[in-house]
Amino acid sequence: MSHRPQRPEHPEHPKHPEHTDHAAHTDHREKIAARYGETTATAHTASPGGAPLPTAATIDRLLDHRSCRRYTDAPVPEAVLETLIACTQSAPTKSNLQQYSIIHINDSAQRRRLAPHCPKTPQLPTCPILLIFCADLARNKAIAESRGYGFENAHLDGLINGVIDAAMAMQCFITAAESIGLGCAAISEIRDEIDAVAEILELPEGVFPIAGLTAGWPADAGYINQRLPADIVMHRDKYDATDLAAKVSAYDRRRHEIFPTPPSRQILTDRYGTCDYYPWSENMARQMSVRERAMVARFLRVQGFELE
Ligand SMILES: Cc1cc2nc3c(=O)[nH]c(=O)nc-3n(C[C@H](O)[C@H](O)[C@H](O)COP(=O)(O)O)c2cc1C
Repeated sequence: MSHRPQRPEHPEHPKHPEHTDHAAHTDHREKIAARYGETTATAHTASPGGAPLPTAATIDRLLDHRSCRRYTDAPVPEAVLETLIACTQSAPTKSNLQQYSIIHINDSAQRRRLAPHCPKTPQLPTCPILLIFCADLARNKAIAESRGYGFENAHLDGLINGVIDAAMAMQCFITAAESIGLGCAAISEIRDEIDAVAEILELPEGVFPIAGLTAGWPADAGYINQRLPADIVMHRDKYDATDLAAKVSAYDRRRHEIFPTPPSRQILTDRYGTCDYYPWSENMARQMSVRERAMVARFLRVQGFELE
């Protein structure tokens, strides 16, 4: 079984037959196994009694998801973007409050200003589509005040609502974009130097950029990034971390066999050194050992959020 399934060539015309929702689809067992780094023989995905698993074009696309950071020069037509934004706005949103905004950055001068604040995102200046997804409480505050009401919800739960709205909208964009053969990558690096980014984007109080998103027609097939087994992530009836260490270590080994991480790609090596066996849990633990973006709380307070 290949863990690097070929992504269909991106079509000149986005409505390639393989990308319509009416395409015939076979069982997704192989793709589910690939998502967990298992072979179909060892996969835990077979339903009891061998009952057929559900199939649909959307399921097929979701199982095929991979972040894509390299794009061809082919532009994405405006009509395609309009449709994707309509899909984005079809996301569920808390009480239909729609507390998010998307900033589409097409102006090359704006991109040039942003680029130095995202040095690990080389695709930022040239990617066909660059969007910044923001939680946005400013719009509803202005509307409420224009109707003579106060706005009492710039607190932590209000912020969480806006962040969830923005995140769900971003995922709808990704799902819709991937369904027509586009590739996307979320970019939280825009929060590394959040003050500078907010200034460039002229973000008013009440607006918090959760992530950027770069998108375009993929320049390479990419690869499937294996996830933790479902029985770690999905708990049944109550939270249950039984056998966590053993399950993670099996996942670590499966992943390492598919994608061993060479020393050149290991992180924080000046602090922790390099190792031959550098599994997912080592990488995760190294990342978590360094406090990231502690200034975000200060930024949020400056942006008028109460954090209480
Ligand atoms: C909130 C969020 C922030 C992310 N930030 C970045 C980023 O700054 N740079 C980047 O290259 N990828 C970023 N990613 C992409 C993740 O690295 C990627 O989703 C993850 O490694 C899993 O790989 P996959 O999407 O190919 O399955 C981000 C993803 C999410 C959901």
